[in-house]
Amino acid sequence: MYGFWSAMFEARAARRAYETAGLAGGERVLEVAVGGGEFFRTLVKTAGLKRCVGVDRSAPMLSRARRRLASTGIERRNLCRANALSLPFGNAEFDILFNLFMIDLLMDGDFHGVFKEFAHVLQPGGRRIVLSVARQPRVLSAIWMWLYRCSQLMTGGCRPACPWRQFWRPTVGRSICAK
Ligand SMILES: C[S@@+](CC[C@H](N)C(=O)[O-])C[C@H]1O[C@@H](n2cnc3c(N)ncnc32)[C@H](O)[C@@H]1O
Repeated sequence: MYGFWSAMFEARAARRAYETAGLAGGERVLEVAVGGGEFFRTLVKTAGLKRCVGVDRSAPMLSRARRRLASTGIERRNLCRANALSLPFGNAEFDILFNLFMIDLLMDGDFHGVFKEFAHVLQPGGRRIVLSVARQPRVLSAIWMWLYRCSQLMTGGCRPACPWRQFWRPTVGRSICAK
């Protein structure tokens, strides 16, 4: 079910993120929170990258991503389990970092730590591309909440992580991103 909603509402934004990044040969790329690996598959297929690594906190999501990657015959070691709050990389190891649709799942108190980690693993001047869900027009939000109340599985099982925060303070993630 998550794959369905993701294709419906997130795929276009993910394509824009990829195009905006304008990846160049020789770059070192990190994706934090690969989920099922849809976007990561596009990344690893990009020609000429020096390094391309993906992490996710969830073992089941990583298994999905590994299966997806296996179908392309691409090296599965590029994926590892890690929490965005404590990335297992050294200083300035990457030129660009992608983080798609994860920050809206964080607790408010974790934002600072996560963005600090992003800065730590990126070289100075490195690019970070962060996508997050935003508030929809009122009717769509109401329909979504109704579906969510009927069955969390129907809405992919993970959103809204905290319904009240999403509805009353929907810009928390974006304001921190802009710094
Ligand atoms: C909504 S999914 C998005 C997955 C993928 N980026 C996409 O666009 O399809 C959110 C993902 O974030 C991961 N995640 C949530 N909190 C995380 C954290 N602190 N560190 C690493 N991954 C995290 C979850 O395990 C899940 O795979």
